[in-house]
Amino acid sequence: AQDMKDEDKLFRHDGVLYPTIMSPLENLKAMEHLEARHDDVMLAAYPKCGFNWMVAVVRKVMAASTGHEGMKGPPLIEFFDPKAQQLLSEVPSPRFLGTHMHPDNMPSSFAAKKTKMLVVIRNPKDTAVSFYHFSVKNPVLPTPESWDTFYAEYMSGDVCWGSYFDHALAWEKRIDDPNIMIVTYEEMKEDLSKGVQQISQFFGFPLSKEQIQTIAEDSTFSSMKENSKDSHGKLAGVFFRKGEVGDWKNHFSEAQSRMMDAEFEKRLAGTKLGAKLKY
Ligand code: A3P
Repeated sequence: AQDMKDEDKLFRHDGVLYPTIMSPLENLKAMEHLEARHDDVMLAAYPKCGFNWMVAVVRKVMAASTGHEGMKGPPLIEFFDPKAQQLLSEVPSPRFLGTHMHPDNMPSSFAAKKTKMLVVIRNPKDTAVSFYHFSVKNPVLPTPESWDTFYAEYMSGDVCWGSYFDHALAWEKRIDDPNIMIVTYEEMKEDLSKGVQQISQFFGFPLSKEQIQTIAEDSTFSSMKENSKDSHGKLAGVFFRKGEVGDWKNHFSEAQSRMMDAEFEKRLAGTKLGAKLKY
């Protein structure tokens, strides 16, 4: 990745940018044929909304309840090459899978099989700040010229996996679907035990109060950061930055904040998801 020119690090597919190294076009094409199962455990999130956090929580919930560790590594289906995607058909149930894809661009078999899906979403301002720092530090992504240029790209949806607002609106449409549970980064920060309990109940992995408590304690930002050398290797510092609500205040100008508030008003005001995304 170090030798790759910045302009080659992203490519556009159906109008949306993707990272060339992590999810090349051949992966996206192969993924269209992925055969979802009814009992897959699926996690979906726009980038930087707390995906890795929820990966850790779901893995611990599944391990505590079933006694199996499951597959290692990032579960993002668009990161699996065509061969690895084929091998997925041999993985025993329940498989734990994840994606950053917009719900309209996910393999259609997930909807057909009514696979349960946990969605984690975060307020758009902190997501933008997290995405900016991630882009600066991650060698597979182009380095933004500045916070201001990144902000402009984020607002126009010219970042990997597309526009935050397009994703949020697509989830808003599905918010009452019984197979979908939407949680926010902010509510997880507020009460992680409650979040763990809701997740275990949603996916049908019953846990004792003690198990829930232990998982919540092991999944705080500080414990995950401490263990991140093992879980994320060299990328530990890239994925575990600050882990707080409201860091946008240290980055946004008045004008940037007003512009995003206006976009939020225009697109999400009065919606159920909009009400959950207070910031
Ligand atoms: P910050 O950059 O604001 O610190 P993703 O996993 O979707 O890429 O999201 C990354 C964001 O989640 C980063 O936000 C990261 O620090 C934060 N994060 C990771 N683990 C966390 C945890 N256990 N608790 C709270 N936030 C966490």
